[in-house]
Amino acid sequence: MKFWALLILLALLLQEAGPASLLKKERKRREEQSPRESETYTLPHVGTDVLSLDDYHEIIDLSSYEELTDYGGQLPEVERSSVAPLARTSPPQSSMSPRTPSPSLPVTRPTEPGLRHSLTSVGLPTCLVCVCLGSSVYCDDADLEDLPPLPRTTVYLYARFNRITRVRAGDFKGLTKLKRIDLSSNLISSIDADALHLLPALQDLILSENQLAALPGLPRGIELLDARRNRLRSSGIQPEAFGVLERLQFLYLADNLLDAIPGPLPLSLRSLHLQNNKIESMQRDAFCDPAEHRHTRRLLEDIRLDRNPINLSLFPEAYFCLPRLPVGRFT
Ligand SMILES: *[C@@H]1O[C@H](CO)[C@@H](O)[C@H](O)[C@H]1NC(C)=O
Repeated sequence: MKFWALLILLALLLQEAGPASLLKKERKRREEQSPRESETYTLPHVGTDVLSLDDYHEIIDLSSYEELTDYGGQLPEVERSSVAPLARTSPPQSSMSPRTPSPSLPVTRPTEPGLRHSLTSVGLPTCLVCVCLGSSVYCDDADLEDLPPLPRTTVYLYARFNRITRVRAGDFKGLTKLKRIDLSSNLISSIDADALHLLPALQDLILSENQLAALPGLPRGIELLDARRNRLRSSGIQPEAFGVLERLQFLYLADNLLDAIPGPLPLSLRSLHLQNNKIESMQRDAFCDPAEHRHTRRLLEDIRLDRNPINLSLFPEAYFCLPRLPVGRFT
């Protein structure tokens, strides 16, 4: 008797742990496949590590872990939504004729201010498909092809290792608290022009390892843009894209198809990574204003131009305002 009880318990435990540990293995496998990423992250001035520290408490803080297991209020809605699956593009209110008496479908009605039960395209509440911990939403490795509707209170969004192909104008609408978007390792080839540029609190935008040929409009307050390992061409970057971003400190565009140094660059910039692109030449004023000899860029200490065809010795007058020479091929 005891033996059977033990066996059933064990089976239940395995069922619980199974998918989670599989996901971990899968992520580990993918991380091992991209060693170049870690190469970049070990550089002394790379800000990504440092910047992500401030949200580590969100990750490690398990004091609110009970939220995860407390699905009491949410489970019945799964049943209801599987009866009437809702496409996220057509909310039930608008698709119903106004004369039809409304069947009680409280699925999308917010229960708490902010933490509404947003439904994904398969009809599940976002916080069942993703893990919502405090103000962070973790949707890593969740087989997503679209961004799920996010709770209004979301501050940090992680949706890495999915199959998202496009970011649409409405995906982040009204998310006024959002500080970090991490969509690395997806299949994103297009981002609607106004999908991101109105997010007032956004600081970190991480789009590395996707298939972007062009950058979308960027929000003014952005501090870190990581678009490494995409297919970015110089024609896909607006001429004034970065100059107006007065808080931009870290600009990572390595492993793309750029043939020119983007510019103008804001004075706030500390790191500019352009290694492994197709840059052959450089304007005299790429970094320094040749008309203003006392002009300095004290903050820009970390410029990577290695693995480009450019011969940096040909532009000796281009670096006078920099605290350090760029990394790359001289002579
Ligand atoms: C790079 O430019 C410098 C200065 O003109 C020149 O002496 C050197 O030979 C060039 N190196 C290569 C590999 O072309």
